[in-house]
Amino acid sequence: MKPRENFGGRAAVIMALAGSAIGLGNIWRFPYMVGENGGAAFILVYILATLLLLLPIFLAEAVIGRRSRANAFGAMKTLAPHSKWKWTGLFAVITPMIVLSYYSVVGGWALGYFGNSLTGGFLQSNPEALHGVFASFLGSSWKPIVCFTAFLAISCLIVAGGVKSGIEKFSKYCIPVLFLMIVTMAVFSLSLPGAGEGVRYLVKPDFSKLTASAVAAAVGQGFFSLSLGMGIVITYSSYVKPSENLVASGAGTAIADLLFALLAGFAVMPAVFAAGIEPAAGPGLVFETLPYIFAKMGVELPLLSSVAAFLFFAALLIAALTSSISLAEVGVAYLVEERGLKRGWACLLTFLVTWLLGLCCVFGPGVLDFLDSFSSNVLMTLGGLLCVIFVGWIMPKQDVQDEITNGGTVNRRTFRLLYFLMRYLAPLAVVSILISNLVW
Ligand code: ALA
Repeated sequence: MKPRENFGGRAAVIMALAGSAIGLGNIWRFPYMVGENGGAAFILVYILATLLLLLPIFLAEAVIGRRSRANAFGAMKTLAPHSKWKWTGLFAVITPMIVLSYYSVVGGWALGYFGNSLTGGFLQSNPEALHGVFASFLGSSWKPIVCFTAFLAISCLIVAGGVKSGIEKFSKYCIPVLFLMIVTMAVFSLSLPGAGEGVRYLVKPDFSKLTASAVAAAVGQGFFSLSLGMGIVITYSSYVKPSENLVASGAGTAIADLLFALLAGFAVMPAVFAAGIEPAAGPGLVFETLPYIFAKMGVELPLLSSVAAFLFFAALLIAALTSSISLAEVGVAYLVEERGLKRGWACLLTFLVTWLLGLCCVFGPGVLDFLDSFSSNVLMTLGGLLCVIFVGWIMPKQDVQDEITNGGTVNRRTFRLLYFLMRYLAPLAVVSILISNLVW
């Protein structure tokens, strides 16, 4: 058998995991979730959930991946042979396929806007015109489908290139560029007249708006953004060398992911208020707000605005691709390692299945929204819950400790805290959220 590929070194591991985490979830989904769920109080819950709930779940998945050194399905078969736990692994293979289908549709929007950034025709500064540009893109008979297909095809082609050459290199260059662009956007957005109201919206919590469904949405957003409950962390961690410190890589990824989400919030919300756009405008929010920022930039600095629009959408597109390739890699690793398919055929099959499902999102009104909320609120939550229960209650404690402490060399004290969170807090909190999602 061919030896498994590995990520080379800590920085590469964090870059690949962060590449998977940072994407449309931070820049497209986080701002509109904040807008739909009342602002600062939602953000506060999101931060707490990331540190206390989602990081332990992330590490539980990382333990499963690195311990087994297998794909999501094979991991469960290896760690709990002849048990029903392997179905958890299959679940973790199916969820990312569903997510990839609608993720690629939104990735197609990013691709379309990248195309627009070359011509500049979408730069508008009045809310109705901004809405009109987005609506006419979605209403076009060919643009959404061509962009979606191209985005999905590019993702699958990169995955066909393999873990090291495809995924690692790609993430390494894009994240720093995206960081620079998002900081520039935030600075400009904060300087717009009327931006102060947006800042207040982001930093002054109004707990009366914090409903149970907003708390559940914050946790669901965290699952989506950190790529949890869909086999990605299991699969990527199976390529992590035994000598790497999992806790440091996990914490680095979670903090980077949080930072990008917050920066995206500060890039988008002040401009939303400055432009008079409705914060709860839903999935189109970012696509209606960013052109406004560039248009305003263009009044004083036309050249800078065109360059910034081009760079921003290029970086957004690449960030979306580093996430979509992680979604595709789960199914491809399964098909190669469990079903014996050649990597190229596995990529083609993944492309076809997700393309068909994605078509329903392009043509069926409401399908994208439904799949998005069902995936993050039910499928990912359930997948993450099963993983954390497996690590907290089924795997031998010594094995978990070995992975978390790298054979007793690091983080001994942290282990106790993490193990407590994995055994008690995370399962209890996630079960409550799952029940509330299913009941309401
Ligand atoms: N975690 C990925 C993202 O946030 C799916 O875009």
